[in-house]
Amino acid sequence: MKVLILALCVTYVASRDTTSLKWNEWKNTHGKSYASHEEMKRQLIWEKNLRVVTQHNYEYDEGLHTYTMAMTKFADLENDEFNTMYLASMPADRKNELVCKKQTIDKFAQNPTTVDWRTQGYVTPVKNQLQCGSCWAFSATGSLEGQHFAKTKKLVSLSEQQLIDCSTKQGDLGCGGGYPDWAFAYINQVGGIESETNYPYEAKNDVCRFNVSEVAATLTGCVDITPDSETQLEKAVGSIGPVSVLIDASHISFQLYGSGIYYEQQCSSSPASLDHGVLAVGYGADNGQEYWMVKNSWGEGWGKLGGYIKMAKNKNNNCGIATQASYPIV
Ligand SMILES: *[C@@H]1O[C@H](CO)[C@@H](O)[C@H](O)[C@H]1NC(C)=O
Repeated sequence: MKVLILALCVTYVASRDTTSLKWNEWKNTHGKSYASHEEMKRQLIWEKNLRVVTQHNYEYDEGLHTYTMAMTKFADLENDEFNTMYLASMPADRKNELVCKKQTIDKFAQNPTTVDWRTQGYVTPVKNQLQCGSCWAFSATGSLEGQHFAKTKKLVSLSEQQLIDCSTKQGDLGCGGGYPDWAFAYINQVGGIESETNYPYEAKNDVCRFNVSEVAATLTGCVDITPDSETQLEKAVGSIGPVSVLIDASHISFQLYGSGIYYEQQCSSSPASLDHGVLAVGYGADNGQEYWMVKNSWGEGWGKLGGYIKMAKNKNNNCGIATQASYPIV
């Protein structure tokens, strides 16, 4: 009996050691350090997330999921904590909808079965919004960078900070949230947007310092894609370029996304549940499972696809990817 207890004890200690080792490894990988009173709290949350991820990936191996989860740099945060820090509640008032045309996109030819605008030079490297609910600005610059490239053959990284600081009259709330199509309306009204280099990112609300002589890209209007239509979204992404989309990103599976095709049963596609702006840069299929290729703005280190996520396509508008999509006309 004594031997058995000892054996159990050793096993327990060994597994605690392994967990601590993994915790230290994870902290090193992601450059994390904490005040001593904070560390135990963070480690406990991290361990809880590790159990969720391990269980999910076990189920993935059993063929029960189409995507893996991973101990991303956000693995030391509770899901609700994470949502408060990194997602934005979109401004509720959509009454003053601005210049975007409602356009049914059927004039375009048959779309390719797969498209990835990154391979054609339309997409800048993955950016990092840091702790500021400015996703909508990154979503807007992403599709304008693409359309600007389509027209000029020059890929210029554009300024999210200008949108954060200056598009408040259009209803955007800086780090507090906003809409890509309001940003297009703003850019249209003031005559352009500066480059990232000229008007660099600060991850906070600041005073508007837009200088029209420094404009790097312009637009003449924008299009709101027919709500909830993945068919219309496919026509746009297939024939025009990267498209700004809003999604429900509020689930732990998104916070800790690894790789594969993200599908979340808990996701909502209603406008009120949209809390994150991203960029659809293409679509395709893996083993018959269709996906949207989506550029996020949480750095290249989020997930295992260099900061991108494959999101389920034609699965009943999962996570609302087609609920409120838009792109600029250049
Ligand atoms: C605006 O940009 C122009 C051209 O670079 C520059 O000459 C001018 O000083 C700038 N104006 C302000 C207010 O910064």
